[in-house]
Amino acid sequence: MHNQIKHSQAEVAALIAARYETPPLAFIHTFGCQQNVNDGEKIKGVLAQLGYGFADSAEEADLIIFNTCAVREHAEQRVFGNVGALKPLKEKNPGLIIGLCGCMVQQQHVVDKIRKSYPFVDVVFGVNAIDRLPELLWARISGERKKVILDPTEQIEINEEIPTRRNSTFKAWLPIMYGCDNFCSYCVVPYVRGRERSRTPEAVLKEFRELVEAGYKDITLLGQNVNSYGKGLPDPCDFADLLEQLCQVPGDYRIRFMTSHPKDATHKLIDTIAANPQLCHHIHLPVQAGSDRILKLMNRSYTRAEYLDLIRYAKEKLPDATFSSDIIVGFPGETEEEFLQTVSLVKEVGYMQLFTFIYSKRTGTKAADMPDDTPHKVKAERLGYLVKEQEVIAASLLKPLVGTCQKVLVEGKGRDGVCYAGRLANNTIVEFTAPEDLTGQFAEVAINGARNTILTGELVR
Ligand code: 5AD
Ligand code: SF4
Repeated sequence: MHNQIKHSQAEVAALIAARYETPPLAFIHTFGCQQNVNDGEKIKGVLAQLGYGFADSAEEADLIIFNTCAVREHAEQRVFGNVGALKPLKEKNPGLIIGLCGCMVQQQHVVDKIRKSYPFVDVVFGVNAIDRLPELLWARISGERKKVILDPTEQIEINEEIPTRRNSTFKAWLPIMYGCDNFCSYCVVPYVRGRERSRTPEAVLKEFRELVEAGYKDITLLGQNVNSYGKGLPDPCDFADLLEQLCQVPGDYRIRFMTSHPKDATHKLIDTIAANPQLCHHIHLPVQAGSDRILKLMNRSYTRAEYLDLIRYAKEKLPDATFSSDIIVGFPGETEEEFLQTVSLVKEVGYMQLFTFIYSKRTGTKAADMPDDTPHKVKAERLGYLVKEQEVIAASLLKPLVGTCQKVLVEGKGRDGVCYAGRLANNTIVEFTAPEDLTGQFAEVAINGARNTILTGELVR
C-alpha cells in the first residue's frame, strides 16, 4: 500500500500554520482534459484542508503545482517551458515549493528528466497520489526531505475521501470511472492513468445528489470511456442504468457525459437519453478517422459503417441532437485518400463541433513503432482543410436555430465583457444582451443571429 498515513491531516495543517505567519498561498495550473481539471479541484480541496489559500499567479504563491497532460508532445513541451520559467522565482524565494503532478509524471522517462534537468522541482506525484500530498508537504516543509519524488504509481482502489474544491458554483465535473483499458494504438492514457476502475453507483449518486442540492445546474459525468462503466462492479450496472438512476434525483439540472467510445455506445444508451429530459441531446462520440484501414491500425474496434449506423439511430431517436468528435489527422501511414474519407465522414455526420489534432508520437505506444513518412507540413495542410470544411458545416447547423427561443444556462460575461454568454443543452454557446446578470441560472434567450460557431441573442426572461 503506498498511501500509509504517517502524519494526520491535522498534524500537517499545524506544521503549516506554524511555519507561515499568514496562511500560505498555492497556485495550481492545470493542463489538459476535464479529468485533469477535476483532479486540480481535488488538489485544491486537499490544500484548503491544510490551511492554504489560493493565488491567481505563480509570482504570489508559496506553493506552485503544475497538473500536467501527456496526451500530445506539444502539451508536454508547454509544461517543461513553464517549469523552466520558474527557476528565477525559486532563486529569489528559496522557500517556494514547486510541485509537478498529473499524467506526464506517470512516465518514468519524464521523472528521470525532471531529476536531471529541473533540480529546483521539490515534489512530484502521480495521478493516483493526490491523497499523499499532505505527506509530501510534511516531508518538505518539516525539512525531513529536501525533495520528494514519487515513482509512477498505479492505484487499483478508488479513494472516495478526497475533498473537491470546485472552480464553479453551477457547473461541475463528476468522475464516474478512472483509467482506460482500450489501448488505442496512438494513445498514452492507458499507460499513465492505469486500468479502468468504476466508482460504485452509490458513490456517484451520493456526489450527484450533493451537487444538485448545492444548486449545480450543469453536471458532466467523466470517464475515458463512459460506455464501459460498471465493468468489475459487484452488482451489475451499466452506463445507461447509472444515468437512469441519476435522473430520478429531483431538481432543475442538465447532465452531460464524456467521453463515449463508439465501440461501447449502445442503442439502450440512446433510448435512455430520449426518455430522460435532463440528459442533454448532445453526444460527444470521437470517431478519430474515417477510413477502416486507419481505424483498424488505431485499434478502435469499430468500422466506419458501424459508427455511421450508430449516428443514424441517434438522429432517428433524437432529431434535435448535436454531435461532436475528436479527429486525428496524419496517423502513421495515412494516405491523402484515407484523409479524404475522414472529411467525407465529417460531412456525412454533420458535427456541431470538432476537436482536431495532428498525430503526435507517444513513447511506449504501438503506433510509435509504425512507419510515418508523411511530412508534417502535409499533415498541417490536411488539418487546415478539415477545419475549414467544419466551419461551413457548423454554420449550416446553426442557421435553423436563428429565430427560435432557447433555454440557456448563463455562464458569465461574453468575450466583449458587456454581453452575457451561456450554453444550450446541445452545447452551443450563445452570446446575448440582458438587463441583469443571471450567471448560474437558466434563462430564455431569443436567438437573433449566428457568428462562426456562436449564436447571438437577447434575453426574454
Ligand atoms: N496524437 C494526437 N491526438 C491524440 N489524442 C490522443 N492521443 C493522441 C496522439 N498521440 C486525441 C484523440 C483523443 C483526444 C482526447 O486526444 O483524438 O480522443
Ligand atoms: Fe486513449 Fe482510446 Fe482510452 Fe480514449 S479510449 S483514453 S483514445 S486509449
